[in-house]
Amino acid sequence: MDIKLNTPQAIESGDPENDLRAFRRCLSQFATGVTVMTACNGQELAGMSVNSFAALSLEPPLVLWSIRKESSSLDIFQKAKHYAVNILADTQVELSNLFSKGGEEKFNHVAWHKGKLGAPLLDNVICTLECSLENIVDGGDHLILIGRVRHYARYDGTPLLFYQGRYGVANDWTALMNKSTASNNQQDSASQSTPVSLLRRLHYVSHLISSRFNTQRQQLGISVAEFRIYGWLKLQAMSEQKLQACIYLSQQEIKDALQEMKGRNHIEGQLGSSKISLTNEGLEHARFIHQKVKNFETNLTNNIDKNDLETALRVIDSLISHTKNA
Ligand SMILES: Cc1cc2nc3c(=O)[nH]c(=O)nc-3n(C[C@H](O)[C@H](O)[C@H](O)COP(=O)(O)O)c2cc1C
Repeated sequence: MDIKLNTPQAIESGDPENDLRAFRRCLSQFATGVTVMTACNGQELAGMSVNSFAALSLEPPLVLWSIRKESSSLDIFQKAKHYAVNILADTQVELSNLFSKGGEEKFNHVAWHKGKLGAPLLDNVICTLECSLENIVDGGDHLILIGRVRHYARYDGTPLLFYQGRYGVANDWTALMNKSTASNNQQDSASQSTPVSLLRRLHYVSHLISSRFNTQRQQLGISVAEFRIYGWLKLQAMSEQKLQACIYLSQQEIKDALQEMKGRNHIEGQLGSSKISLTNEGLEHARFIHQKVKNFETNLTNNIDKNDLETALRVIDSLISHTKNA
């Protein structure tokens, strides 16, 4: 019997040396947490957002991360005898964005204190690891900094995630995938009015809708960053910095997206300059995307009675405001 193997079609594939951005997109399919690495050398402070952090060994307790050789913080991290790993909570996207910029001034905008080994520890993170610098290993355009953990502290909270160039929050797998809690399972329906069931349903429907929406976005051939940039630039011209503050994506992701859009002749203005705006062609494309989003919502709610939908929206709004003010 002939067994036909369906080889899945890759969205993109090739030699990383030919397309750096595509290679980066590939690597970003691997989800990580987000840390801020901190160190001090004399009076000088260094702090940078990092997602290359990884556990290396339990006995002895070693961790590692890699730093770009061109980073302005490299000198301090190389000279400091210690560094600290600050693992961010899912509420700390702003903190990650703050520490993805150069300069020492960022320490003025956060609460922090010196740890036992002298490296700055950020307040309100979910874990800190104070390390002594064990070894520095060459790794292409990065250096790998191996640290021996001398002191750890774990706090309550859930981690911030980073994947596909964007921030995310962790969802419990069973809450999303356990269909019996969210489907029309008759036996369960009696217990489904409990708050736990409501929470699971909300998680489940949000997961379903966003994955379907992402499929549509991918069919349009645009990344999450491009999608958000078209949305904002449709309203007003903006600097790269302002875009970063509005769309909560890494600087690199925004730079890549702007390059792609420039290549399509959809934006004008010097990249990195004070204002970037859509060209006429870009504006047309932004309107096309906006229409697609509207169609998506219409299709999604087409079979729902108008009154039911209005009630559902009212209930969701009221849940949002009650939870926010609780
Ligand atoms: C989520 C995220 C992860 C990052 N991971 C790393 C990393 O692993 N290594 C690195 O060198 N830079 C990483 N960066 C970039 C640095 O944070 C950024 O280059 C630095 O803070 C800017 O200052 P610099 O010019 O001194 O490097 C990351 C940025 C973000 C937003």
